[in-house]
Amino acid sequence: MQLLCTLDTLPEDTSKGFQLDDISLFAVNKQGQIHVYLNLCPHRGVPLEWKPHQFLDLEKNFIQCATHGALFSIDNGECIAGPCPGEMLTSISSTVKNGQVWVTLP
Ligand code: FES
Repeated sequence: MQLLCTLDTLPEDTSKGFQLDDISLFAVNKQGQIHVYLNLCPHRGVPLEWKPHQFLDLEKNFIQCATHGALFSIDNGECIAGPCPGEMLTSISSTVKNGQVWVTLP
């Protein structure tokens, strides 16, 4: 496991991008639950964010790809609207311990 960040740097309803061992990934804090995915859109294999650390739609209900606007469930990474319905973001296993977020990279 590798340390990704401390929880206090990832407030509720925000997202944050990271580079770990040359792997680009991001984390979302949705109502205190942390979800981590590879930063790769399953539609075209490009990074997802609009601006640095900005992976969510305006209402902060979904992860949204900046290139063609696909919307993904924050909970499981499934594309629910846009050009790749049913395709999945690659989930990264994560654990929160003592206020720190740890990940297991593939
Ligand atoms: S590259 Fe993400 S929706 Fe097309």
